[in-house]
Amino acid sequence: MLNFVIMAGGKGERFWPKSRIELPKQLLNLTGNGTMIQETVWRLKKIAQPSQIYIVTSGMYAAKIAEQLPELPPENIIIEPEGRNTAPCIGLASIIIEKKDPGGVMAVLAADHVIQKPDLFCELLLQGNEVARETGGIVTLGIQPDRPETGYGYIKMGPQASGADNLFRVERFTEKPNLETAHEFLTSGKYLWNSGMFIWKVATIRRAIADFMPDLHQGLETIRAAIGTDQYPEILAEQYSKFEKISIDYGVMERAPLVYVLPADIGWDDVGSWTALERLRAQDANGNILPNENIVAIDLQNCIFETSGDKLVAAIGLSDIVYVETGDAVLICPKNRVQDVKKVLEKVDKTK
Ligand code: GDD
Ligand code: MG
Repeated sequence: MLNFVIMAGGKGERFWPKSRIELPKQLLNLTGNGTMIQETVWRLKKIAQPSQIYIVTSGMYAAKIAEQLPELPPENIIIEPEGRNTAPCIGLASIIIEKKDPGGVMAVLAADHVIQKPDLFCELLLQGNEVARETGGIVTLGIQPDRPETGYGYIKMGPQASGADNLFRVERFTEKPNLETAHEFLTSGKYLWNSGMFIWKVATIRRAIADFMPDLHQGLETIRAAIGTDQYPEILAEQYSKFEKISIDYGVMERAPLVYVLPADIGWDDVGSWTALERLRAQDANGNILPNENIVAIDLQNCIFETSGDKLVAAIGLSDIVYVETGDAVLICPKNRVQDVKKVLEKVDKTK
């Protein structure tokens, strides 16, 4: 069977003040069509039954996720005692799915990406399922890069794999290169961005974790033995607290021997900061995003507004400014400083 695992434990801090520790990006409605996690599940509807979809998250978000997605069986929401990055998250999902479907395949997805071509995306997931099943390799979805982004993984495309004209072997996987290297990768034309989504047999990822992350493997074996027993929560918490905080990209992808890529022109965006809204929302003739009628805009150019709509907001003569108001907090900054929202979070009570 093809199982879908949605990783939903990230904090999404760059959308402060709309995102809060208790309300991270994946639980926000940024596109106007549903929250990011709802959209992630809904776009699978043509190829998945709810029982095939698992969500891995922390206890803090589980109730909100269950509320936003009542169609999912409650036991498919896998709760981590704490976030230890994506390698432990994927490892935990793999042992839980292995119990039910040891010969199965997992498609691992992020909870907070926009995909504008869901039909093509679903077709690629089904193709990836076949490739993962037949080859025992890891299948990635690669995105055509358009800037030297240092926050992504890079996939070096190798020769075309036999059997399909859109399938390539991966020569090298490099997670989050520095700017100089990212530039080289971009200009070489041989690299795709890693979309952060992976398709593999349960047995393939179990083997890879055993080979490259033996400590994680050991801990997972202990957890696996406790599944279904009264000691499970305690053993899970104890093992989790010892896991290294490391992503699957560093832990497995940079070392895995048999990786494939399906180039995926799926209208992908990982919605990394407030300026991502420019790619997702309607703009007026002057390039401004003005989401409600309670904003009076006079001579604004290329500004991004996100307001609660409760107060009248008037702005005059601004360009390239981000203004976010949530009722209890306001953020104002030039567009080229949106990444510095994390500096605000170092100074304020993050729950506020
Ligand atoms: N359950 C759980 N637990 N989920 C987690 C955890 C955790 O500890 N940490 C992160 N996640 C979830 C996030 O919510 C997100 O949906 C996904 O896992 C990826 O985590 P990010 O923290 O957003 O990763 P990234 O953006 O730095 O890098 C990854 O994605 C890029 C594309 O967006 C990598 O795979 C890169 O190679 C890739 O280019
Ligand atoms: Mg991300």
